[in-house]
Amino acid sequence: MSTTSSGPDKKRVGILISGRGSNMVSLIEAARAGDYPAEIVCVISNRPEAAGLARAEALGIPTQAIDHKAFASREAFEVELDRALRGHGVEIVACAGFMRKMTAGFVEGWRDAMINIHPSLLPSYKGLHTHARALEDGVKIAGCTVHFVRPELDSGPIIAQVAVPVLDGDSEDSLAARILEAEHRLYPHALAMVASGAAKVEGDRVAYRQFQINQMNSLYWPPLS
Ligand code: GRF
Repeated sequence: MSTTSSGPDKKRVGILISGRGSNMVSLIEAARAGDYPAEIVCVISNRPEAAGLARAEALGIPTQAIDHKAFASREAFEVELDRALRGHGVEIVACAGFMRKMTAGFVEGWRDAMINIHPSLLPSYKGLHTHARALEDGVKIAGCTVHFVRPELDSGPIIAQVAVPVLDGDSEDSLAARILEAEHRLYPHALAMVASGAAKVEGDRVAYRQFQINQMNSLYWPPLS
């Protein structure tokens, strides 16, 4: 089996991180498959100390730290970030724990070509502390979402979602860990759909082409007895 990760038909993807980069690793690993429709060409962090940079390097991906603190304005930082991404020939930007607010100008420059993962079933629980707020509300089903990025926080056409049960006695950490596991499967799946053209923005939502339904199970929680 071929493990080649580059090829003329593969979309060139740049990953933006700020921290540990576990979603980044899941994308890099998925993209190693010969038939994956995207290749990861760079990982860029706005925090030089981000642990994900070393993880990406160890996996053989070119990395760059662009410290936002070194720039006088958000815009000046984004000019540099944009230059770096375009310099790598990036076609799709995948935000993976990128904790920096972006200006509308930057976001519009990557319209329908920038995606993000958020640990909630959007449009519920936008912003920070999603798990704590979900627990406080007593919801029984939480989850995560991959979406195209729009200038408003955690908004944009939804590409894919996973529903994850909330268990009695869950803490913020235990719920976060269960959702993170789902994130690691969802993000490579969603990126593949975007890169292959199977998921496309139409109006203000995502439409699927070539969608194959192998299974369609509703999640009942608590389960039906
Ligand atoms: C993930 O929960 C992601 O959904 C959110 O930030 C976290 C990043 O974790 N946007 P990691 O850096 O990918 O491990």
